[in-house]
Order: sequence, then structure tokens, then C-alpha cells
Amino acid sequence: MNVLVCGGAGYIGSHTVCELIEQGHGAVVFDSLVKGHRAAVHKDAKFYKGDLRDEAAIDKVFKENDIDAVIDFAAFSLVGESCSEPLMYFDNNVYGTLRLLEAMNRAGVKKIVFSSTAATYGEPRSIPIVESDPTEPINPYGETKLTVEKMLKWSDAAYGIKYTALRYFNAAGAHISGEIGEDHSPESHLIPIILQAASGVRDHISIFGEDYPTPDGTCVRDYIHVTDLADAHIKALERLNRGGASTVYNLGNGTGFSVKEVIETAKAVTQKPIKVLTEGRRAGDPPTLIASSKKAVDELGWKPRFNTLPQIIETAWKWHSTHPKGYDDRG
Ligand code: NAD
Ligand code: UFG
Repeated sequence: MNVLVCGGAGYIGSHTVCELIEQGHGAVVFDSLVKGHRAAVHKDAKFYKGDLRDEAAIDKVFKENDIDAVIDFAAFSLVGESCSEPLMYFDNNVYGTLRLLEAMNRAGVKKIVFSSTAATYGEPRSIPIVESDPTEPINPYGETKLTVEKMLKWSDAAYGIKYTALRYFNAAGAHISGEIGEDHSPESHLIPIILQAASGVRDHISIFGEDYPTPDGTCVRDYIHVTDLADAHIKALERLNRGGASTVYNLGNGTGFSVKEVIETAKAVTQKPIKVLTEGRRAGDPPTLIASSKKAVDELGWKPRFNTLPQIIETAWKWHSTHPKGYDDRG
């Protein structure tokens, strides 16, 4: 397959491009670099710098390349920022994907895998979360992703564009080589922040709330390795190639870890002291998010390989300990 990867210079996108190339596929990356890094893009991938909302730029990519399918990672994804700048999120996440779907239609490309999120569920009513559970986002970020899922459903009905929406839980870890990894600015995710505290880039990690209804009072999350996510995208494309119908899958490991458990595991993996402070709750954090990924396992034949927390943190540490400033200190 020759796959157009929108947002392929970002964290999950760059790992998916690597996995595509390692599995013998072609990858064309389209990224505005508003958040991503040119250095994160695999040397064998073709790269275009452009914004999805720029019709001429995206049309050029379809004209110059024989694209079989699209994977769309391009979005803004900071929950807090989405609450203060909701229109910016609808503009980039919804309108951006709308323009992509229009370009796909013009080019006659009929398959897309879309990055959705656990945030489409809002506050879960039961654990583990299954795909048929109610989707009631509690922030604009989750709402934009759910809106795109709905747009995809109607684009399938009208134009025959087949889609797979993948609702990731907490993406974590780095490529096993240690050559690419997570480098968000600002960084808001737990594991990179803990590891930056371990490597001395930050003074400490703050735990956001110790009074949740969980065993140790801190939030419980389902961490899924970025390479396992990447592999699921390829399996989802292969299923669409076999004529599979449009659908939605959760992607997680099915095991929850509390913030305190993640910190303790990071101390064991890094063998470094990590200063821990406690702050109040962060707005919009559900106490527990754990996926049932049974549907993806059964229908995609997906099997996470990095399915223990120490494995996930070990790969992340390999990246962070060798690139304490992320891509800035490459080369
Ligand atoms: P990221 O910010 O590292 O990557 C997104 C990439 O998209 C960046 O390289 C950015 O420059 C690019 N981009 C953004 N808007 C664009 C536009 N209009 N045109 C072209 N390029 C654009 O994010 P990530 O952590 O890799 O997440 C990838 C996707 O997965 C996002 O859609 C995110 O919402 C979703 N997601 C992430 C997580 C997670 O834990 N990281 C969890 C659930 C869902
Ligand atoms: N946390 C801390 N201190 C920090 C950072 C995070 O205690 O410095 C806690 C958070 O409060 C949360 C847990 O660690 O309880 C995980 O936080 P992350 O920010 O790493 O991840 P989230 O669970 O908030 O977010 C993830 C994805 C989002 C998605 C969301 C679904 O990154 O894209 O799950 O709710 F929207």
C-alpha cells in the first residue's frame, strides 16, 4: 500500500510511518509542523509541509502520488486548551478533516483510518469501556473527534468512503530503537513529564488529585504502546482492503494503572530519584478509563506486543534519557 499519513511528523504519526515502512509499505507524510518535527519523519517517507485546510496543498499531494489509503492524525489534542479555544479546535480538527475528505473525494481515494480518542466517551458509566457505550464528551476536544466520526459515517453513506475510527486510550512509550519518541510542546502527558523529572529536565512531577474514588486515590488509566497503536492502524487498513465495513475500535491494553503506580514503575525502570508533589485535581479528568479492546483483537487480529507498564516505560526512557530536549538536540 502507498499510504498518505496526515500528521505523520507527530508522536503517533511518526511511529506509524516507521511501522508502515518496516512492514514494506510506502508512506507519504503531510504535516504543517505546527506541532510535529521534521526530524521525526522516517528517511524513506516522502514529506510535504502543508495544512489540511489548504486545498491546493493537499490536492497537490494526491496529484503527485498514487495514494491507496489515508491515515489522519492531524489535529490539536490538548484538552484544557480546547476548553478555552473551542473554535480553534473545531476549525483544525473538524474543518481540517472535512477538507481532507473533500480532497479524497476529488482524488477518488476511498479508505481512511482516523485518530479518535477515549475522550469521546466522557465520564464512563461502566468499566471496561466498550464501543457501544454512550458517547458524551465533556470537553470540546472529545466533541471534535466525535463530530468527525459522525462526518465519516455520512461520508461513507453518501460517497462510499470506508473508514475506521480508532479510539485510543493513553498512548505511551517510544520506538524500540530510541530514535523517535514523544516530544510535545507544551508536554501535558504523565509519562514524559515523570521521565523529564527523572532526567533532570524538570524539577518534579505534580500528582493532580489524590482524592479520586480509586484504590490509591489517584486516576487510573490504560496505557497503550505507540508501536502497538501503529500496528493497529495498518491492520485496520488491511481490513478495509479486504472489504471490511466502516467501524470504530477501542485501542488499549485493558489494564489500568494509577498515577502513583506509574511513578513507582518509572522509579524502578530509571533507577533515578523522582521528586513528587501533590496538587489539586485537573479539570475534566475522569477517575478511571480502561478499554475493552476485544473488538479490535477479534476483528483486526491485533495483539499488543508491549503490553506491560515496565516495557512501555523502558522504551520511553530510552528516548528521553538520550534526547532530554526532544528533537531539538538531535544530531
Ligand atoms: P501530535 O500533536 O504529536 O501530532 C499531530 C500532528 O498533526 C502534528 O505533527 C501536527 O503538526 C500535525 N497537524 C495538526 N494540525 C494540522 C493540520 N491542520 N494540517 C496538517 N498537519 C497538522 O499528536 P499525537 O499525540 O501524535 O496524536 C495524534 C492523533 O491522535 C491526534 O489526532 C490526537 O488527537 C489523537 N490521540 C492522541 C492520544 C495520545 O495519548 N497522544 C490519545 C487519543 C487520541
Ligand atoms: N497527571 C498528573 N500529573 C501530570 C500529568 C498528568 O497527575 O503532570 C495525571 C492526569 O491527571 C491523569 C493521568 O495523569 O489522571 C494521565 O494524564 P495524561 O495527561 O497523560 O492523559 P489523559 O488521560 O488526560 O489524556 C489521554 C489522551 C487524550 C485523551 C484522554 C481521554 O492523551 O488525548 O486520554 O480522556 F483525550
